[in-house]
Amino acid sequence: ISVEVGGHTRVFTVARDISDRRRIEEERRALISRLVTVQEEQRHRIANDIHDDSIQTMFGVGIRLHLLRTMLVDGEQLRVVSNLEATVDQAIGRLRHLIFELRPTALDHDGLVPALRLYLDQMRTESGIEFDLQSLLSAEPPAEPRVTLYRLAQEALVNVRKHAQAHRVRVSLDDHKGGISVRIQDDGRGFHMSRANTPVPGHLGMAAMRERARMAGGWVEVDSAMNRGTTVEFWIPLPALEERNVA
Ligand SMILES: Nc1ncnc2c1ncn2[C@@H]1O[C@H](COP(=O)(O)OP(=O)(O)OP(=O)(O)O)[C@@H](O)[C@H]1O
Ligand SMILES: [Mg+2]
Repeated sequence: ISVEVGGHTRVFTVARDISDRRRIEEERRALISRLVTVQEEQRHRIANDIHDDSIQTMFGVGIRLHLLRTMLVDGEQLRVVSNLEATVDQAIGRLRHLIFELRPTALDHDGLVPALRLYLDQMRTESGIEFDLQSLLSAEPPAEPRVTLYRLAQEALVNVRKHAQAHRVRVSLDDHKGGISVRIQDDGRGFHMSRANTPVPGHLGMAAMRERARMAGGWVEVDSAMNRGTTVEFWIPLPALEERNVA
């Protein structure tokens, strides 16, 4: 680099910086998008394995324990086996809960809004956060955008549960510009917006949300202020009707 053509050198440096930054940004996006895809595949696989293997096995153990109990007369032995049976039941319950987190069957069987209602119900039971769920959707979205919408909502709701210290969360769904928009509004402590826009190492949730929405051709908007709650809104386009009939 010649110092004599200082002006040119500076232009060259800036251009290189920008292309470096763009490349890094592209790589970051590609990685997050890979992460989101792999995560969804893994969740599916793990949920199926737990369902077909672990729960079936535990179920078998439960049945044998029950048989064993019918053969016993000794009070102490009966007590031990009863406790074991209760432990197995608890373990099955926890596995079912895990499957529910990984991939709620309600999403496939009953649809987006019922699955969200179940999730919010569970969240209320576990953390006491009240909810309003309002849907103005005219139809059930097809499978792919349905999963995307559910995952985005789940990620936002995990944040409400983890960070917001909220009393209530409002979830509303609406048809919007050929797609579906979802708004998730909590009355919690809020946070500085600088944190929502600059990726923080180790905190992937928001970045993954944006990437997931972008992959589906949609967007995510976050609005928050200290002590004024947080609103997360996202929109995912739906395939046109004729495309859906072909699929
Ligand atoms: N609803 C909310 N209320 C208050 N603070 C929030 C809310 N949502 C996000 N935040 C803040 O924004 C930060 C970034 O959220 P993000 O989901 O990206 O990461 P995380 O939840 O900390 O980690 P991860 O999602 O990777 O488990 C959080 O650490 C939290 O400080
Ligand atoms: Mg998070």
